[in-house]
Amino acid sequence: MSEETIHIARTRSEVQRCIRSARAESKRIGLVPTMGALHEGHLSLVRAAKRCCDFTAVTIFVNPTQFSPTEDFSKYPRTIDEDLKALRELGVDLVFMPEREELYPDRFSTYVLPPAVSDPLEGQFRPEHFRGVATIVLKLFNLLPADVAFFGQKDYQQCQVIRHMVEDLNIPVEIQVCPIVREPDGLAMSSRNRYLSPEDRVRAVALSEAVSEAARLVQAGMTDSAAVTKCMHDILHRAGVTKIDYATVADACTLKPIDQIDRPAVALIAVYVGATRLIDNTLLPAK
Ligand code: PAF
Repeated sequence: MSEETIHIARTRSEVQRCIRSARAESKRIGLVPTMGALHEGHLSLVRAAKRCCDFTAVTIFVNPTQFSPTEDFSKYPRTIDEDLKALRELGVDLVFMPEREELYPDRFSTYVLPPAVSDPLEGQFRPEHFRGVATIVLKLFNLLPADVAFFGQKDYQQCQVIRHMVEDLNIPVEIQVCPIVREPDGLAMSSRNRYLSPEDRVRAVALSEAVSEAARLVQAGMTDSAAVTKCMHDILHRAGVTKIDYATVADACTLKPIDQIDRPAVALIAVYVGATRLIDNTLLPAK
C-alpha cells in the first residue's frame, strides 16, 4: 500500500474492523507491537513484516502496566509525528494508537500470570514488568489477530516470555524474533539511549563489548560460565559501569543459570549507565 493509505485507528472497534476486512481479503497479517519512539530496531521489524506479510499493523502504546511506580512511564519518549512519518514511508497499512482508557478502563482487573521464564533476571529486578508485558501483548493479539508477530531480540527475555505464553495458551500466532540493530560502535538501539549524556553514551558501548567478548570466548572454547561472566563484569567495570543488575550466562530457552556452556546459551546484561537502565544480550555459539 502507498503512503496515503495508512489507517490510524484509536479505538478497539475501529482496529478490529480494519483487521476483519484485511482477513476477509485473505491477507497474511503481520503485527509489530511497539511503545513508539521508533528507531531503526523497530523499523527493521516493520521491514521484516512487510517482507513476509500482505498487511502490516503497528501498535504504538506506552503500556503503563509494565512500568513500576519508580520507573520512567511519564517521561518515556513520545515522538508520535516522527513515528507516523517513518511508518508512512515504510508503507505500513494500519497503526493502532489507543488512549490508555481504551485498553485499561476503570473497571480493568484481569492480568496474565506470566510463564516461569519471566522469573529470573528482569523478573528479579522488575517484579511486575512481565505481568504487564504479557497482559498487553495478549490484549493486542486478541484485538489484532495476526498471522505473524515481530519482536526484537534486544528484549531477549521478553521474547521468551511471549513465546512461552503463546505456546502455553495456544495462541494462534507465529512469533518472529529479529536480530538486534546496533549503532556503528556496537550500542544496541533503544528508545532509552536518548537519555544518555555524552559521557554516558561513550560508557554505554561497554555493554556490547562485554557480550561480544563473551561470544568470542565461548567460540574460542571457554565453557565455564563463571569465567565468561567475570570477563563481562571486568569490561563493564573498566568502562566505569558499576551499577550492574546482572551480567550473566543462562540457558537460552529457560533463562536459568548454567555452570557449563554445554547447550544453547545466551549472555545477558542489564546495567545502569548514569541514571539510564540499558540491556543487551547475545546468543553464544553452540558447542
Ligand atoms: O517491547 C516493547 O516495546 C513492549 O514491551 C511491548 C512488546 C510493545 C509491550 O508493551
